[in-house]
Amino acid sequence: MSQIPSMTDQTVLITGASSGIGASCACFFAQAGARLILAARRQDKLQALADHLQQQFSVAIYLLPLDVQRSEAVHQAMATLPDDWQAIDVLINNAGLSRGLDKQFEAPLQDWEDMIDTNVKGLLYVTRSVVPGMVARGRGHIVNIGSIAGRQTIQAVAFIVPLRPRLNLSRRG
Ligand SMILES: NC(=O)c1ccc[n+]([C@@H]2O[C@H](COP(=O)([O-])OP(=O)(O)OC[C@H]3O[C@@H](n4cnc5c(N)ncnc54)[C@H](OP(=O)(O)O)[C@@H]3O)[C@@H](O)[C@H]2O)c1
Repeated sequence: MSQIPSMTDQTVLITGASSGIGASCACFFAQAGARLILAARRQDKLQALADHLQQQFSVAIYLLPLDVQRSEAVHQAMATLPDDWQAIDVLINNAGLSRGLDKQFEAPLQDWEDMIDTNVKGLLYVTRSVVPGMVARGRGHIVNIGSIAGRQTIQAVAFIVPLRPRLNLSRRG
């Protein structure tokens, strides 16, 4: 196994940590010894992951039940983190979903709403809540998990393409 750099005392917030890439990120950072804030809607999944990681790696974990679509709930969740969990060093913006493989002109509008509300607005809400602390401390890292659909035109999800460059711009800013 390759060497993982130590991240002891670093606090990492992962959205969409209850499955898939987010859960894998949690395993990686737990191996590195980081303190983890695991966020998602399904608390049972978060709890099961936290139990596993604490048993395997003895890391400190804070569970954050969160629907990233709800701006006020996101703000509230971040503002009410316990004092010793406020200083987030790394944000992994991973919560997201993929809806609909229909052609752009045939897709149900609700599919668009779900994806934009989660993948775009949700990411921005969480980032907006976390960045002020990073700026005040003069450090921090944000990783936005994207999709190749943001760079290459895929007929079924063509409506995503104009949205992604905006996120790319905000990342560079
Ligand atoms: N896997 C791929 O091939 C692929 C390709 C392109 C892009 N991506 C992107 O990579 C990210 C992770 O994908 P994945 O394959 O690991 O998907 P996944 O297994 O379905 O996981 C998605 C995660 O996002 C969370 N989530 C969804 N809606 C949410 C909401 N409203 N509020 C909070 N959390 C929410 C889910 O948690 P809860 O349901 O518990 O809330 C879950 O933990 C997504 O952003 C996806 O768009 C993945």
